[in-house]
Amino acid sequence: MDNKPGVESFDGDWLALREPFDAMARNQDIARALMEHLDQKGRPRFLDLGAGTGSLTRWLGHFVGRAHAWVLADADAELMSRAFDTLMDSADSTGWRATWPQRKVLLLHPPEGAWRIEGVLTNLADAPDGLPLENVDAVTCSALCDLVSEAWLLRLAAELARRRLPFYAALNVAGHERFMPPCPGDALVARGFARDQRRVKGFGGVALGAAAPDAIARIFTGHGYRVLRGASPWIIPRQEGHMAHELAMGHAEAALRHEKRGAKQIWAWADARTSHYHAGVLSARVAHQDVLCLPG
Ligand SMILES: C[S@@+](CC[C@H](N)C(=O)[O-])C[C@H]1O[C@@H](n2cnc3c(N)ncnc32)[C@H](O)[C@@H]1O
Repeated sequence: MDNKPGVESFDGDWLALREPFDAMARNQDIARALMEHLDQKGRPRFLDLGAGTGSLTRWLGHFVGRAHAWVLADADAELMSRAFDTLMDSADSTGWRATWPQRKVLLLHPPEGAWRIEGVLTNLADAPDGLPLENVDAVTCSALCDLVSEAWLLRLAAELARRRLPFYAALNVAGHERFMPPCPGDALVARGFARDQRRVKGFGGVALGAAAPDAIARIFTGHGYRVLRGASPWIIPRQEGHMAHELAMGHAEAALRHEKRGAKQIWAWADARTSHYHAGVLSARVAHQDVLCLPG
C-alpha cells in the first residue's frame, strides 16, 4: 500500500510486462459487441475504472473506429502519469500526433478521429459515489472486478442500471491457473493463491476473486441486462518464460500470506519454478473471462 491507505497497489513494470498478454487474451467478440451497442453514439465516451497504465484504452480504443473519449480513473498517481506517458509513446510509434488542448486533456490524432483522454485520481472504494457517470456512454474495467466485493458490485450495478449504462469488465480471473511442467507444491500454491484472491482489497468486503464473472452476470441479469461472456485466457508459452516466472513468483508470494505452515514447501516450489525458467521449460495458462452487460 504505497499510495493511499487501503488501496491495493500494483507495480507499473508488472502491468507493462502483462500488457501484451492482456492484449492477446482479451476477447475480441465481446469488445465488438460493446461497439455495436454504442453504434448510435456519435462520439462515445468511456469511463475506465482502475485504469492503471491505460492498457485497456490502448487496446479497446482501436475497436471504436471514430473519434471518442476516455476518462481514466485510478487511485495511483504514479500509474496515472505512466498511463499518459505510455499513451503518448504508443501514439508516437504509430505515427499519430499527440496534443494537449488543456493541461489535463491529451488528444491523440489517428486518421479516423481523435481520442480524447483525461485522468481522474480517485479512490474507487466508494463508487459509484464520485464517478462522473452523467458524462459517459459506457463504464469499462480490466483486471479489476476480482478485487472488488459483492457489495461494491451491487452498488455499482444498481447505479448503472438506473442510468441504463453498459458495463464491460475484461480479464476477470476465472479460477484455473496451471504452471507447466507439473511440480511438487502446485496444489499448495494454488490453494494459497485462491485464498489470497478472497483477501479484503479495499472495496468494503472480501474480494470476489474467481467468483467475479458469475457475480457480474448474476447481478446485472437481475437488473434486466443482457449478459455476454467470453474466455480471455493468458497463454504464456515457454518462450515467454520471464512473464511465466514473474507470475509464479507472484503466486508464491500470495500463497505465503496464507499457508504459513507450508512456507518451506512454497519456497521450494518457487526455487523449482526459477530453475524451470532458467532451463527454458516454464509455461503457464491462466483462465479469465470478459463479461459485457448491456441494458435491456
Ligand atoms: C490489476 S490492475 C489493472 C490495471 C489496468 N486496468 C490493466 O488492465 O492493466 C488494478 C488497478 O486498480 C487500481 N485500484 C485498485 N484499488 C483501487 C481503488 N480503491 N481505487 C482506485 N483504483 C484502484 C490499481 O491502482 C490498478 O491500477
